[in-house]
Amino acid sequence: MDRNKRFQGQVALVTGAALGIGNAIAHGLAEEGARVLILDISVEDGEEAARAVVDGGGQAAAITMDATDPQQVRETVGEIIDEYGRIDVLVNNVGGNQPTPFLESDEALWRQLLELNLMSTLRFCHAVLPHMIAQQYGRVVNIASIAGIHPWPGSVIYGVAKAGVVSLTRSLAADMASHNIRVNCICPGPTETTLSKLLRQTQPEYVKAIHGMVTLGRLADPQEIAAAVLFLASEESSFVLGECMVVDGGYNMV
Ligand SMILES: NC(=O)c1ccc[n+]([C@@H]2O[C@H](COP(=O)([O-])OP(=O)(O)OC[C@H]3O[C@@H](n4cnc5c(N)ncnc54)[C@H](O)[C@@H]3O)[C@@H](O)[C@H]2O)c1
Repeated sequence: MDRNKRFQGQVALVTGAALGIGNAIAHGLAEEGARVLILDISVEDGEEAARAVVDGGGQAAAITMDATDPQQVRETVGEIIDEYGRIDVLVNNVGGNQPTPFLESDEALWRQLLELNLMSTLRFCHAVLPHMIAQQYGRVVNIASIAGIHPWPGSVIYGVAKAGVVSLTRSLAADMASHNIRVNCICPGPTETTLSKLLRQTQPEYVKAIHGMVTLGRLADPQEIAAAVLFLASEESSFVLGECMVVDGGYNMV
């Protein structure tokens, strides 16, 4: 295996890849030879992200879609298979949080966070896995969060959704292993993205409290999360299955 071209000739789909962690993952996969499909709800950001990959010498295309819409998920996956013939790597990255004290949250917010973080991952797995089974090859990496395993301030529903992603990962890994499909997930800690920038403006005390809990004393760079995703999507991790890899700078360690 050429360490610098681990995804040569592969087709990789990354959800929510226009910005943040997903964008770093898309760049990393493209730099190592994958044709990357950047799925995002934002037309401008998605196209800009694909252009940046192509300008850097990689192969990428933007697909505008809403990952919380079941029909759009099915149609998008169908169109990708029609055009590219296969999907080797699926990274379920789309997600987000809206920290709110539990008793101030309502059904609408619960549904929104469960749809964005858990149901989108479930639906993409359901739509893509039959194609991975047909080709007897697939690598799925789901982006959960340390909030799925440690309590995270004001984030009961987000934590529930991400714990669901961890559980989904383990169960699917067991179901899919015999088809040469490995399913794993990453639990990132606080990472410098648009989400953290927004929270810094709207909820500075919340962000300060979170930062104080990271033993390394800083937020992750999205590329540090992407490096772990690339490891799990590559053959370097050939004996890693159903793993929930924590990449959090020692969150809540001391
Ligand atoms: N940033 C952190 O501190 C952190 C920590 C742990 C886990 N995570 C997880 O990492 C993942 C990426 O987070 P991020 O901070 O990079 O987010 P971000 O907000 O920076 O980027 C999210 C991307 O998803 C897109 N998107 C949003 N809703 C969408 C939808 N319905 N359909 C398609 N695309 C949509 C946005 O346009 C954007 O490009 C999420 O699952 C998040 O929960 C983030």
